[in-house]
Amino acid sequence: MKRKSFVLAALAAATLSLFSVPVLAEPIVIKFSHVVAAETPKGKAAEFFKKRADELTKGKVKVEVYPNSQLYKDKEEMEALQLGAVQMLAPSLAKFGPLGVKEFELFDLPFIFDDSNDLHKVTQGTVGQSLLKKLEPKGITGLAFWDNGFKSFSANTPIKTPDDLKGKKMRIQSSKVLEEQMRSVGSIPQVMAFSEVYQALQTGVVDGTENPISNLYTQKMHEVQKHLSLTDHGYLGYAVIVNKKFWDGLPADVKGQLETAMKDATVFANKIAQEENNAALEGVKKSGKTTVYAPTKEERLAFKRAMVPVHQKMEGRIGKETIQQVYKETGFDPSKL
Ligand code: LMR
Repeated sequence: MKRKSFVLAALAAATLSLFSVPVLAEPIVIKFSHVVAAETPKGKAAEFFKKRADELTKGKVKVEVYPNSQLYKDKEEMEALQLGAVQMLAPSLAKFGPLGVKEFELFDLPFIFDDSNDLHKVTQGTVGQSLLKKLEPKGITGLAFWDNGFKSFSANTPIKTPDDLKGKKMRIQSSKVLEEQMRSVGSIPQVMAFSEVYQALQTGVVDGTENPISNLYTQKMHEVQKHLSLTDHGYLGYAVIVNKKFWDGLPADVKGQLETAMKDATVFANKIAQEENNAALEGVKKSGKTTVYAPTKEERLAFKRAMVPVHQKMEGRIGKETIQQVYKETGFDPSKL
């Protein structure tokens, strides 16, 4: 290079470095809304995901977690996700019916899973994966299943037999299977958003409810329910979902890092769920506000006999083949009750 052009080039470079301010890219924001307390299995897993996403993307993604229906209640959060007002949710599997994906209600079938091993065979098997695929036409991508746990009944009178629920108004999530489950024992189902349950129990709008103990305890429902029965009659867990357009539009490297963060958060969620429910049960017992009852084997069998016919009744909604596939994966045989 001639000396003159060299000087010119050097000058140009110096000028550029003097005046070019490094462009700081704005972080990609993921608003993650949910309806339970931060100290629940879902609340803690959401925080874990936030932290892991920050680490893996080196701050390129900022996850904002909004617990306790701060932003939206059950029904509204689904609409908000589809509209893109939030990017991520983890609704319970009982809340996908209103979206038009009623097959998710298979998880609500009473006594269909003996334990979380049975459940994982389904969530990690073909049924679980094909359920997540059904969300795509709704503009939603399903990322993972997160555990909570098995449900207990609560009310202001003891619950030892199915007859003890007769005539009681019981709050349920928006699931036709849960409606039928409550009818199978003669109670009156009342669909209600999670954020309204405490007050409804306190004022007597409903007589009782069902939930894993972590949800009951963190909402202080045990303070307004005199009896809790450890029936473990059904499962409550979550599907983590994102707005499809948002997800598909992410840069490939960021998406890969978020997928890893979600994998790690799922392992974490499923590891702590049982521990959190055990700790919540201890908390309920310690509070002395609720009498905790563990049904005998025979009493539990009576609930099972009353409720399992719901499976057949709901074949039209969930699909006979899907139910049979779950039986095959878990080894459940309704004729052996
Ligand atoms: C409920 O509404 O009872 C639960 O779905 C709340 C939750 O998200 O765990």
